[in-house]
Amino acid sequence: MALTDVDHIGIAVTDLEAAVEHYRRAFGVEPVHRETVEDQGVEEVLFPVGSSYIQLLAPLGPDTPVGRFLAKGGEGIHHVGYRVDDLEAALDRLRAEGVPLVDETGRPGSRGTTVAFVHPKVFRGVLVELVQE
Ligand code: CO
Repeated sequence: MALTDVDHIGIAVTDLEAAVEHYRRAFGVEPVHRETVEDQGVEEVLFPVGSSYIQLLAPLGPDTPVGRFLAKGGEGIHHVGYRVDDLEAALDRLRAEGVPLVDETGRPGSRGTTVAFVHPKVFRGVLVELVQE
């Protein structure tokens, strides 16, 4: 499979508005997208970095993956999203390599993308998300 780009770096935050304001002011860059992704239990805001994004993620409730992440370790990098051309082919490859998957097939991401999460174990503690445009 080809990892064509880093799609985004997902950063878990407790207060989305405060985090957006801090990123806006610090980098002098405007957010380009905001979306609630019910399937993932998050509201997210994207800041552009070249053709990639910084993705600020706030949980919709405490009993969501990002809610539990924040309760456990506080704010910080939650996952890295890699862009792929063919998500299902990428998942087939990981499966064949014995890499444990969180999602066996693609599901809706933001911006109309299809995404799948891969277990952090093989990737040395980093939760990986594959993103197909
Ligand atoms: Co993501």
